[in-house]
Amino acid sequence: MRAPQIRDTYLSYFAERNHKIIPSASLVPSVHDPSVLLTTAGMQPFKPYFLGQEEPPARRVADVQKCFRTTDIESVGNTARHLTFFEMLGNWSFGDYFKEESIQMGWELSTEGFGFDPELIWVSVFGGDEELGLGPDEEAIEIWRAQGLPDERIVRLPRSENFWQAGPTGPCGPCSELYFDRGEELGRPGDRPGDDTDRFVEYWNHVFMTYDLAEDGTLSPLPMKNIDTGMGLERMAAILQDVPSVFETDVLRPLIDLSEEMSGRGYGSDPSVTRAMRIVADHSRGMTFLIADGVVPSNEDRGYILRRIMRRAMQQGRMLGLEPPWLGRFADRTIEIMGETYPELEAEREMIARWVGDEEEGFGRTLERGTEILEALITRSKEAGTSWVEAAEAFRLHDTYGFPYEMTKELLAE
Ligand code: SER
Repeated sequence: MRAPQIRDTYLSYFAERNHKIIPSASLVPSVHDPSVLLTTAGMQPFKPYFLGQEEPPARRVADVQKCFRTTDIESVGNTARHLTFFEMLGNWSFGDYFKEESIQMGWELSTEGFGFDPELIWVSVFGGDEELGLGPDEEAIEIWRAQGLPDERIVRLPRSENFWQAGPTGPCGPCSELYFDRGEELGRPGDRPGDDTDRFVEYWNHVFMTYDLAEDGTLSPLPMKNIDTGMGLERMAAILQDVPSVFETDVLRPLIDLSEEMSGRGYGSDPSVTRAMRIVADHSRGMTFLIADGVVPSNEDRGYILRRIMRRAMQQGRMLGLEPPWLGRFADRTIEIMGETYPELEAEREMIARWVGDEEEGFGRTLERGTEILEALITRSKEAGTSWVEAAEAFRLHDTYGFPYEMTKELLAE
């Protein structure tokens, strides 16, 4: 099942169950929500509905939301599943259905719509939290049991895993995650959902949005009970296309192919090459979407996030031996893959090309010079038998040569 069919299967299922299908909101959050720099989850644009401040367009909604998670930048490339930019399929109830229907539909769509073997689905539920003053989510456990899931596949996890909050304050609630078991060989013996291996892929989170979290950590009930679910499109694609990671799915593989074509090296030929190609694919795709939504490279806020991923991509591309200018070709390929679903990419093609070209030219020289200096420092450190470079040198790289400190840190770690 390719990505367009996954989106279609999901949206059609909910449209048939009276959900209004709405387009993705921008990656740039509304000015009324200063709590995040970028849209990190499907629920972000809906916060005013959960809080009862605005009327939703319908009580039942479904969509595919563009998301960007800055917190995952440094995980990209190291795992089979982390991305900065990704698409989140979601169904929403604003004071309409709640846990029972949400779980029932989750089960039906997983097993019938997407054809998952029921034996391979595991779920996690909120196990309770003293600080929040909440016990385990017995209601969700009962509903899963009624669905026919045996107790050993209903895993109780702590607040850190199974209580969703978009930030330190705001709408929140216990959640229940659906996992697909990809087989013992991808993990360690005895792995369970929530363990950090590739065996259990969390593909769909159902949040029972019930409370408003205040700054002092206390919970008060929202005006109504809501449902927020989020299904990662790329993770679903990896499962349904039976490929080992999100990078080999139809939404990302063409970007890896481009790296291979342009560098003459093979994805998978060496761990550092695999990692570099993944970073280039993810970051160039994220860059293209951010610029299409009006973010421009700068030294602060969301402009800096964009600049950071562009620079990381350039640095990894240099390592692969890509001849500059090359970054724009990845933007073009992203538009080829995604332009039909997201017309803003095509509409902003020229602007994207301009910003990418300027940034690549501007940072190219800095990257060249900074990398040479850093390589010399590393050689010297090795000769001196130490495992560090002097802080003053890292500062000089930044201050005199404009080479970002976090890049120095990352390269030293590598
Ligand atoms: N808000 C939840 C998440 O992002 C479900 O959509 O996981």
